[in-house]
Amino acid sequence: MKTLSGKRILLIIGGGIAAYKSLDLIRRLRERGASVRCVMTAAAQEFVTTLSVGALSADHVFTDLFDRHDEHDVGHIRLSREADLIVVAPATADLMAKLANGLANDLASNVLLATDKRVLVAPAMNPRMWNHPATRRNRATLVADDVIFVGPNRGEMAESGEAGEGRMAEPLEIVASVETMLDDAPKPLSGKKIIVTSGPTHEPIDPVRYIANRSSGKQGHAIAAALARLGADVRLVSGPVTIPDPMGVKTVHVESAREMKDAVEQLLPADAAIFVAAVADWRTADAADIKIKKVAGEGPPALQMVENPDILAGIGHHVQRPHLVVGFAAETNDVLENAQAKLKKKGADLIVANDVSQQGGAMGGDRNRVTIVSKSGVDQWADMPKEAVADRLAGLIAERLMSVAV
Ligand code: CTP
Repeated sequence: MKTLSGKRILLIIGGGIAAYKSLDLIRRLRERGASVRCVMTAAAQEFVTTLSVGALSADHVFTDLFDRHDEHDVGHIRLSREADLIVVAPATADLMAKLANGLANDLASNVLLATDKRVLVAPAMNPRMWNHPATRRNRATLVADDVIFVGPNRGEMAESGEAGEGRMAEPLEIVASVETMLDDAPKPLSGKKIIVTSGPTHEPIDPVRYIANRSSGKQGHAIAAALARLGADVRLVSGPVTIPDPMGVKTVHVESAREMKDAVEQLLPADAAIFVAAVADWRTADAADIKIKKVAGEGPPALQMVENPDILAGIGHHVQRPHLVVGFAAETNDVLENAQAKLKKKGADLIVANDVSQQGGAMGGDRNRVTIVSKSGVDQWADMPKEAVADRLAGLIAERLMSVAV
């Protein structure tokens, strides 16, 4: 399918071993009808040649800010003007740092600073570099600047064999992100701001121990991604999870229930809020500042617990209550009765009830069987993948919000 017919992609190839995958990316983009023009950094040319990139893109390859040919023929401003989207793949830690801080000392960074086009980055680096506080800061800055991320994925690094997060997304994943970003079909949720909570919360006992639950964040993240595909401005507040931030979604990372509550409140006002997170109901009354040691003869410590704030109920009864408030109910028994009660108590418009009594079921699994409970009735959906639940729920949310608008 020529899904990218007539679209012009400017691909900036950074210097990393993953640059070999960019060759395949060029092919995949062109197969779908896009034209691909490439800029390579000096380091990128150590990994793949301009000859291969030029042959695959069927265009001149741009490498040098001061090259007569490059600057006379097509300056960095024109490179950006003549593109519909800029893709940086692989985006090295260095390229991310330059982009986040507005540095411009070569052609790639000049194009990125001079552009008014949307930018998609596919980071690739050693997991330690990806997790370094400096890279994390740069990532947060770029997200705030509306730069879109695809990956990195978890897995083994090509050069070191080390495992962790830092592998560049596969060419087809990058293509899917490009397709989403360039999809100009009308979006039912465009202009709507939607808050989504996802994942578990961690409630500290001491600096090394915490209370948590089995939530993976898969369902909440899938809902955030599905709402973004429908054009919503999605703000995801995520507890600690191991899955990547969904594409096109501004994500705030928190640890505890109280941090999640503060983050959600700061995001108000919003058109809708979807509470998918498995928030811990209780926390320890006083988390110890230092590690609690075993003391011979004293036995285990008695943990004094206090109740956490109910984030959903707080927003359901808030003065700035969004038009649509959706809660989840993880139940092991009396699913419907409990969901109906939660609808009232928490001030929600919809409760998505899921039966978590099965081992390997909704909590942590890939599938979900949900029942939608609202004032107007009950709708039981068949068992399906969490992505399918997310798409269907996003459709339902769009319908509800459109009926509010008229
Ligand atoms: N929730 C929340 N803040 C909490 C607890 C729950 O926002 N402190 C939200 C969840 O995100 C979910 C809904 O409330 O949307 C239902 O959570 P659940 O744990 O099933 O309900 P509880 O209120 O904890 O009731 P119970 O433990 O009695 O089942």
